[in-house]
Amino acid sequence: MEPTQAIEEALDSFGRQYLAAFAAASTEQALRDERAQLLGKKGALTEALKLMGKVPAADRKRIGERVNAEKAAVDAAFDERLRALHAEARARELTARPYDLSLPGRAPARGHRHPISLVIDDLLGIFRDLGFVVVEGPLVELEENNFTKLAFPPDHPATDMQDTFWVDVAGAPPGARTLLRTHTSSVQVREMSRRTPPMAIVSPGAVFRRDDDATHSPMFHQVEGFLVDRGVSMADLRGVLAAFAERLFGPGTKTRLRPSYFPFVEPGAEVDLSCALCAGSGCRVCKGTGWLEVLGCGMIHPEVFTHCGIDPEETTGFAFGLGVERLAMMRYGVPDLRLMFENDPRFLAQF
Ligand code: PHE
Repeated sequence: MEPTQAIEEALDSFGRQYLAAFAAASTEQALRDERAQLLGKKGALTEALKLMGKVPAADRKRIGERVNAEKAAVDAAFDERLRALHAEARARELTARPYDLSLPGRAPARGHRHPISLVIDDLLGIFRDLGFVVVEGPLVELEENNFTKLAFPPDHPATDMQDTFWVDVAGAPPGARTLLRTHTSSVQVREMSRRTPPMAIVSPGAVFRRDDDATHSPMFHQVEGFLVDRGVSMADLRGVLAAFAERLFGPGTKTRLRPSYFPFVEPGAEVDLSCALCAGSGCRVCKGTGWLEVLGCGMIHPEVFTHCGIDPEETTGFAFGLGVERLAMMRYGVPDLRLMFENDPRFLAQF
């Protein structure tokens, strides 16, 4: 067959079926596959074009125009269908729900109080019942309130750089040294300086010392207590501590005072409670002694009263300070103090 005739027959049979095929293509890929049937390497139109070289010069213009017209028609139909597919996809996107309402929700994790806060609340509750009021003091203190007015001599080792975090504070009184309080006893000075006896106060909060190992943290918590009035005696101190111990660890808990030294009390004592776990027979928690050392205490030193503007001839009082972490570790059986501050949710979720 002559090339001219062959092309013309091919073009005649080519027809318009591809329009239906394009319309039926429901994805861009399917549409592109359909076009490749015509214009791809082995496409029907491509095959016809290959014969062009053999068409006699006289027919070439006419056949060429026809082939080009077919090709343009295919391209136009393809472009139109492609635009339509894109428009459909966009419309689906715009009308779809922005989120899947059928997905089950993720319940928010519920937090709770830190074990240290739980113990502080219990301690304060006990002392409130005994008639004490709660007062808090600042964590950044004047040397005067933390040491000097508590009758620490200027060269006392506790005031050393090795033991105390000294800090510079903008706006501190000229010449005054400032520090992170090393104990809550500074609240004694603050409150006794601005109140007149009688007063019975407990004060919880963080304190800071240069210490860091399995049983010491540079930040820990204390609860301070003090009672100031006429005629307060060591017997009152014992009575309050005994009542406190029984409320904390249950009836029958015993209290033991051992002489000890703190510059701001006289006499001073260390207080042990009978071990709540073994009731005094000796166990791991009390290291076999049957006793747990929980606080320091004593009768407020006359010099401290004088520094705070209270007449030591008329007034007496007692003070005590206890470490919260030790009580929390004992209560919950926590083996390492650092767990309390690492804030690992696997640890905290257990309380
Ligand atoms: N402030 C003392 C300490 O941190 C404890 C204490 C308080 C002792 C009150 C006696 C009276 O060790």
